[in-house]
Amino acid sequence: MIVGILGCGAIANIIASKFMSKNSNIKIKYFYDHDVEKAENLARLANGIAVLNIEDMIDNVDLVLESASPISVETYGLDILKKGKDLMVMSVGALMDNKLREEMIKIATENNAIIYAPSGAIIGLDGIKAASIGKIQIATLTTRKPPQSLGKPASEEEVLYEGKASQAVKKFPVNINVAAALSIACNMDVDVKIVVDPNVDKNVHEIFIKGDFGEFTTRTENLPCEANPKTSMLAAYSAIKLLKSLNENFIMGT
Ligand SMILES: NC(=O)c1ccc[n+]([C@@H]2O[C@H](COP(=O)([O-])OP(=O)(O)OC[C@H]3O[C@@H](n4cnc5c(N)ncnc54)[C@H](O)[C@@H]3O)[C@@H](O)[C@H]2O)c1
Repeated sequence: MIVGILGCGAIANIIASKFMSKNSNIKIKYFYDHDVEKAENLARLANGIAVLNIEDMIDNVDLVLESASPISVETYGLDILKKGKDLMVMSVGALMDNKLREEMIKIATENNAIIYAPSGAIIGLDGIKAASIGKIQIATLTTRKPPQSLGKPASEEEVLYEGKASQAVKKFPVNINVAAALSIACNMDVDVKIVVDPNVDKNVHEIFIKGDFGEFTTRTENLPCEANPKTSMLAAYSAIKLLKSLNENFIMGT
């Protein structure tokens, strides 16, 4: 399987440096970024090819791994799927747009392509997916981040947002992939609280789920990527693990 990366920033750099394609049928070969220098730097590091035109990448790969921005999913997602290429989406916030998500699923189905959304910066999506087989009554997310991660100076704890995930995604598009992943997995617009907290040095996500199965609480304390404090290391690791699993014959977890 030949993979191309769309968006050569923090996540892409971790993926390219940690994904060992030796002894693997999966090769990360093409790199595209609207900042050409970033694509060229990463291509050099990964011994791959930087393309100036995204079509040159789409035509030559089996899967495009998007690690760019929600707008890039809107701009290129349908074109990638129309060509029958699989798509791994990191900017899951884009998929909160029901119209876009349904259209992408329709086009993927018609063209025998698969859309993957790695679990990203949270734990527990396996349990949530299993729980969604029954009815989920309550799903809440509290995201607590240091000021530099939210790009919002603060000398004390402050609630920046409290409401539904669909609205949070519009106000914090780059920071709210977790709320989107949770909502899509639960099939409901979950209740979200976003807190800027100068007393934490990690991106912290607390999830509470109550349903027919019982209830659970998860707490993820994520170390940020050096290259981008808004992004958690675990998000990049989840993409690497999902990518590796495409080549495996034993799948653990839902
Ligand atoms: N699913 C999750 O849990 C999760 C966690 C962290 C980050 N993310 C998302 O993943 C994406 C990448 O994160 P990152 O930390 O690597 O970001 P980053 O800013 O470090 O890198 C993004 C790169 O994509 C490029 N880019 C942006 N828009 C583009 C476009 N339309 N066309 C071509 N190139 C484009 C930028 O030039 C940049 O090099 C972001 O959208 C982020 O919100 C998801």
